[in-house]
Amino acid sequence: MSVSDTAPGRGALRPARSWLHSDAPRLSLNGPWRFRLSPTASVAEDFAAEGFDDAAWDDIPVPSHWVLHGDGAHGRPIYTNVQYPFPIDPPHVPDENPTGDYRRHFVLPADWADAERVVLRFDGVESLFRVWVNGVEAGGAAGSRLTHEFDVTPSVRPGDNVVAVRVHQWSAASYLEDQDQWWLPGIFRDVTLVARPVGGVEDVWLRTGFDDGRGHVEPEITAGAAAFPVTLRIPELGVDRTWDTAADVVPFDVPDVEPWSAERPRLYDVTVSSTAESITVRAGFRTVEIRGDRFLVNGRRVVFHGVNRHETHPDRGRVFDEEHAREDLARMKRFNVNAIRTSHYPPHPRLLDLADELGFWVVLECDLETHGFDKVGWAGNPSDDPDWREAYLDRIRRTVERDKNHPSVVIWSLGNEAGTGSNLAAMSAWVHARDRGRPVHYEGDHTGEYTDVYSRMYATLGETERIGTDGDRTTLMNCTPAQSVRQRGKPFLLCEYAHAMGNGPGALDRYEALAHRYPRLHGGFVWEWRDHGMSATTPDGTPYYAYGGDFGETVHDANFVMDGLVLSNDVPTPGLHEYKAVVQPVRFTFDAGEVAVTNLRHCADTSDLRFVWRVEHDGTLAASGELEVPVVAAGESARVPLPRIQAARDAETWLTVDAVLAAPTAWAPAGQVIATVQADRSTPRPEPAVRHRTGWRHSDGTLALGIAEFAGGTLVRLAGRAAAGPRLELFRAPTDNDEGTSDDLEDSDAGVPGVSHAALWRRDGLDRLTTRRLSVERTADALRTIDRVAAANSATSVTVESVWSLEGDELELRVEIAPSSGWTTVWPRIGIRFDLPDGAAPVDSAAWFGLGPLESYPDSLRAARIGHFSRAVSDLSVDHARPQETGHRSGLRRLTLASTGTDLLRIVAVADGQGRRPGFTLSRHTPQQIARAGHPFELPASTTSYLFVDAAQHGLGSRSCGPDVLAEFALRPEARTIRLRMSAC
Ligand code: GAL
Repeated sequence: MSVSDTAPGRGALRPARSWLHSDAPRLSLNGPWRFRLSPTASVAEDFAAEGFDDAAWDDIPVPSHWVLHGDGAHGRPIYTNVQYPFPIDPPHVPDENPTGDYRRHFVLPADWADAERVVLRFDGVESLFRVWVNGVEAGGAAGSRLTHEFDVTPSVRPGDNVVAVRVHQWSAASYLEDQDQWWLPGIFRDVTLVARPVGGVEDVWLRTGFDDGRGHVEPEITAGAAAFPVTLRIPELGVDRTWDTAADVVPFDVPDVEPWSAERPRLYDVTVSSTAESITVRAGFRTVEIRGDRFLVNGRRVVFHGVNRHETHPDRGRVFDEEHAREDLARMKRFNVNAIRTSHYPPHPRLLDLADELGFWVVLECDLETHGFDKVGWAGNPSDDPDWREAYLDRIRRTVERDKNHPSVVIWSLGNEAGTGSNLAAMSAWVHARDRGRPVHYEGDHTGEYTDVYSRMYATLGETERIGTDGDRTTLMNCTPAQSVRQRGKPFLLCEYAHAMGNGPGALDRYEALAHRYPRLHGGFVWEWRDHGMSATTPDGTPYYAYGGDFGETVHDANFVMDGLVLSNDVPTPGLHEYKAVVQPVRFTFDAGEVAVTNLRHCADTSDLRFVWRVEHDGTLAASGELEVPVVAAGESARVPLPRIQAARDAETWLTVDAVLAAPTAWAPAGQVIATVQADRSTPRPEPAVRHRTGWRHSDGTLALGIAEFAGGTLVRLAGRAAAGPRLELFRAPTDNDEGTSDDLEDSDAGVPGVSHAALWRRDGLDRLTTRRLSVERTADALRTIDRVAAANSATSVTVESVWSLEGDELELRVEIAPSSGWTTVWPRIGIRFDLPDGAAPVDSAAWFGLGPLESYPDSLRAARIGHFSRAVSDLSVDHARPQETGHRSGLRRLTLASTGTDLLRIVAVADGQGRRPGFTLSRHTPQQIARAGHPFELPASTTSYLFVDAAQHGLGSRSCGPDVLAEFALRPEARTIRLRMSAC
């Protein structure tokens, strides 16, 4: 089998079968193997011989990726999104083809002598491999994230045996594995030797169904004639059936079963046995069906609150770690994620066991992507080339057969971004023939010729709504009118949306609202769950998470691989908190003295929840208790009286209601918050009026006003410490979305197609503003400066009037910001900056009353709540792999800055004439410094804290791959006022 063979392999057993839990003996061949890496594929094959001397080789653990072992001696990871890291010359790959040879010994257990067959199983090898046992070649295979088994009975013998494996990094199969991720060669999943007993059970498929309290089981048992009788037991349900042979097995019904759902993942232990072997399956009863344009499980419409999940870990790459995976899935559950698309290949088989057990709707995707052919207009795309048909079919068969027993798998997906063509249609036809119980998905089937659900990625809100609207007969994207009619009749899902790269995504709530408004829309899957950062260290030993280019790749796609809701170090981003709040399964609607509690779940009632409330006065707890909420069935509401709330006279009064878990679950402790709402019960209080002064006279600006000292009209000390400001700041360190150049501007009106906002900001010099002071004036208790702020080579400007005045015990600063005419872009922010250099000790923490505890932006405010919070400076920003804007806390009322535990300065933010409040950011770096850094370690050491108070910030959007900031959240140049009242602590 050569590296340019389009065939899927030779010698691997067919048909593929389920990945089963069996009591047949097995021997794990995981562990240390001998390893040698060669730069080309044309090294001699003598290493496969039994007596070959591998003493000079290295050790490598299996499973692993060789590029992640050997400190660079075994090559480095390569990251590309769409680009092939080799010439587009299908099915050929370059002679420079890293080739890993592996060897190990094993002892065949003595009691395996009775086995009918000995099978060697590989659960994942990237990309093409061949295998020998005792020098005899067993075969070879491609399909990196698929299971391949080889019959090695003729070559094994009692006692010592040697297995040799050759793995090529590149092969024809690499053309089919162009997923947006690191290229990570090696034997990266388990290797197992399996004894197949005489009379064993080869395969089991328990097709299950559920209808009106009854379970249906349609067993398909594959076993040789020697396997008799065949027994199927479900002890919990009293099922105990025996058939003479596997061929006699018949379907049956079971009364009084509980259904399986992602919300109540009820599993029953089933054993299927012959006298020689016993298989355990954890079965769930559920029926998946499409009725018209609805996707239903157990007769009820499903809304996917999903994420795209890659297998990725900073140290292990795609090597599976069950404990980590379980914790990751538990984290998903805690953040109200109910669905997973296994982008873009089958995960480790155990992942599906966990999904069954914890409860997720799974779209199980085949290992297929040929996106790199986009570069050549899809010329030569394997998806429509008969030479590749068998490879495509082999992939989908292995995918479906391996995971067919899992109740969590509700949709099969043919792959991702592989263009379209007859091979995909053939895959779909095969699935339809094999599994009538689950629909087929493939987003690239734009016209809906061979798939059952209508799927799009990164559709704008406008497009999504047009798909949802029944009455709208416009032609759908990429479709003729007739094809549009066909697509319209199908359930719709967003297989990818809300690109979670860097700071963002914005407008999640708008997508969610559409799914609730239009029943055809079934939600979607955020791109994506995790960042794919790789653990690395700088030459001076500073650890960081590497992305594309950090390993010196020839072609790469930089940090496009850092687009998860969870950072590489497992820390959830603010975007994930926002997601949790947006998709929370309980909705609260306040109405006078009552609250309506609506259960938005698929099928579970609210008996697992308690509803606790609290009242806070300016963030301080004043009262709390529990609401008496009756059990609310899925889709229903209940109205509940609220407690009597005493509004404070001098403080804001907020009522918070949390729906929390009443008892611990497999994924969270009791008390875990599932849904939250707040209601403002404050008595309105007027803001202090601006006291306009008269009698301004020219001044040299050197004076003291309360806690502030000025020289030449400029602040030099505040609350006894060196300080400078306010200085106009219009720039933010561009987020990945600000750098986005997508043309998806239909819901926005602020962007230029193909040009990022960040490019326009840099063009206009927002990051390099200069100041010319126009005047300095004073009265007895006030100072006023007027500045003209503008960038080099620009005629547009901003006039900034700053008035410092004593108002009783407090010092007020009022800043009036007014742009000239002629500004053409949106602005990142309208704010002011204060520099707080290290005095005796730096300002190192903030306590505030306002929105928190996490950052928030105009189109990402749902997770933020009103309260009193405090954080160290270092915890106010998010450690994005590529530094960018972070840390803005909206809706500020009151802020106290402290140093080493001592409060220094208290700032009250006064709402402007329209009731709008500013936000704040406290950071050790300026936006200009942050914008220059490609990684956190590139940020300069700093002892200065910078306080930014922003009248407004631009939204986040999702333009790194998708729609821009919605028009209503785009910040246009406009006049704004910032008013702060300061006092020393
Ligand atoms: C999609 C693709 C994903 C990922 C994403 C951007 O087009 O399916 O694999 O590349 O874009 O991050």
